[in-house]
Amino acid sequence: MFFGGDYNPEQWDEAVWKEDDALMRRARVNLATVGVFSWALLEPEEGRYDFAWLDAHLDRLHANGVSVDLATPTASPPPWFTLAHPDAMPVTRDGARHIHGSRDTYCLASPAYRTAARNIARALAERYGEHPAVVMWHVHNEYVTLCWCDHTAAAFRDWLRDRHGSLEALNEAWGTAFWSQRYGSWEQVLPPRATNWHQNPGQHLDFRRFWSDLVLAAFREQRDAIREHSDRPVTTNMMLPGYQNVDLWALGREVDVISIDHYPDAPGLDAAADTAFAADRARSFAGGRPWLLMEQGANTVYDGDRILGKEPGEILRHTIGHIARGSEGALFFQWRQSRAGAEQWHSAMVPHAGADSRIFREVQAVGEAVERLGEVEGSTVTAEVAVLHDADAWWAMEVDGLPSADLDYHGSLRRAHRALWEAGVTVDFAHPEHDLSRYRFIVAPALFLLSDAGAANLRRYVSGGGTLLVQHFTGFVDEYLHARLGGYPATPLREALGIRVEEHRPLRRGEHIVLSDGTRATVWSELLRSEGAETVLTYTHGMLTGHPALTRHRFGQGEGWYLSTRLDDPGYAALITRILGVGTEPPGVESVTRHATDGRSWEFLLNHTATTISLPESAHDLLTGAPVSELPPGGCAVLRKNR
Ligand code: GAL
Repeated sequence: MFFGGDYNPEQWDEAVWKEDDALMRRARVNLATVGVFSWALLEPEEGRYDFAWLDAHLDRLHANGVSVDLATPTASPPPWFTLAHPDAMPVTRDGARHIHGSRDTYCLASPAYRTAARNIARALAERYGEHPAVVMWHVHNEYVTLCWCDHTAAAFRDWLRDRHGSLEALNEAWGTAFWSQRYGSWEQVLPPRATNWHQNPGQHLDFRRFWSDLVLAAFREQRDAIREHSDRPVTTNMMLPGYQNVDLWALGREVDVISIDHYPDAPGLDAAADTAFAADRARSFAGGRPWLLMEQGANTVYDGDRILGKEPGEILRHTIGHIARGSEGALFFQWRQSRAGAEQWHSAMVPHAGADSRIFREVQAVGEAVERLGEVEGSTVTAEVAVLHDADAWWAMEVDGLPSADLDYHGSLRRAHRALWEAGVTVDFAHPEHDLSRYRFIVAPALFLLSDAGAANLRRYVSGGGTLLVQHFTGFVDEYLHARLGGYPATPLREALGIRVEEHRPLRRGEHIVLSDGTRATVWSELLRSEGAETVLTYTHGMLTGHPALTRHRFGQGEGWYLSTRLDDPGYAALITRILGVGTEPPGVESVTRHATDGRSWEFLLNHTATTISLPESAHDLLTGAPVSELPPGGCAVLRKNR
């Protein structure tokens, strides 16, 4: 199990390095991510490398028993790069060119940037590919920058030629007959730069897809340059949960190890739920294989425009929350809190106050606990329930001109996951075109865009015996963002659900409606006709009075549910538990089990309540190395089973 974090020794001097060595031993640090933002030191001038300082740090870490996740520094090109290649600086949607002085100043479509990134990755791999300290490669840092420059425009056109084959096909796909947007030559086609009114939806969606492919290509170039000189696994850290600049299913196929950065965006129970959401997604993108929490904050909870701290015990709970769901350890951004620079107020394992601090004492205790989890390594988590996620559907819901500003892809996924989490159910995420047969229940909270293949797959899933809950505004458009004609959703799915949506009727901001059993709903309603489905709940307002709001349809061996509005939280939780046939206890003890192939398993327990929970029987707790029979408020335990 890995424990450690981003380590930036270049910000400190020798006296601090000595203290780092001692404190890392105390905290049981065994992995340091080095060099993430070190380009200016590693290559002070174009083509002139200085590795002496890095040699010394890698040797020192190695001698101290700390392995290295060696990063390529390409997320922050140095100032010399800007001046030599001003055309490689990113251009915003409205034409402003950014400049160095922060980080992430590059355009992934710029040939000069790509060459420079490949060169520094290759140089690092040549030098450190077999270094005994290096156990993993960390390409780049969070591929987040988008760009709308001329290099991007040229690369976008090439991508579009490949995807559509001809200009005619592109015009058809983008529906350019509308608003006189017809393209007469490829040169006229641009990335979706700032316009004075709604942008073409097809152009937006294809740009998102193009950018995702560009990220994958840039990653692959560095990965392959590294692989020429090193056999250690290669990763790139993704920012979860809200990150959508790349199709994470596709990225999962390119990396050797999925790694994520996770910073909760609300405190308390919301942070715990968000931890589970991020971790379940990471495990799913990893295809069920173990993955790694690359960054978390020792004392960081983002809350809108402020950075809150963590409560005592939360570092352990968040760490265990991730490991429970498949992470092979827990790393932090960063080891030592920076004295200067833009992130000097971002927390770290060693805070400004130094080692004599609550934070470091908790970090040390967490390090000791993680060290005791070694036997769990390599074990996996299985889920019987899945939430469907598709990058295309997410990007599709970003387009201008949707009928309601309250339609929210990411929020819908989180709500579905949260309701399942509160019901105590372990959840995978799955793509609508995956083989879904191993799941007994699937929720499709927000597949506005659903491909023909996806719709047919969901139909197959239900007829084969699965239970599917489809939520409003799903399957309204195909993969080109063209509306489904003759009623929504896409025909194969309509058959499985036994319904036909004839009209959508968004609700006003803040408006609440009441369904036939008293459940409250917001945001959306639909005029829905049953084509074989049983009506479970009806609307009680306006022209929809008496029409179905929630339906259920026996189809083949399975069952398709359709929810045409957005239920309030208690109503939604009640629906989920009703379909699953589980109790409606309030959120209490989170329980997840990791299984080894040899039959061993470990139950991870997190007590989110304010009361002490008695366990049914005393069991060996890996975290303390002692038997445990109860969990105090906020406590966690990892129970060894079957041995
Ligand atoms: C991460 C990023 C780190 C650091 C951290 C601060 O997303 O990868 O470099 O900026 O956020 O919270």
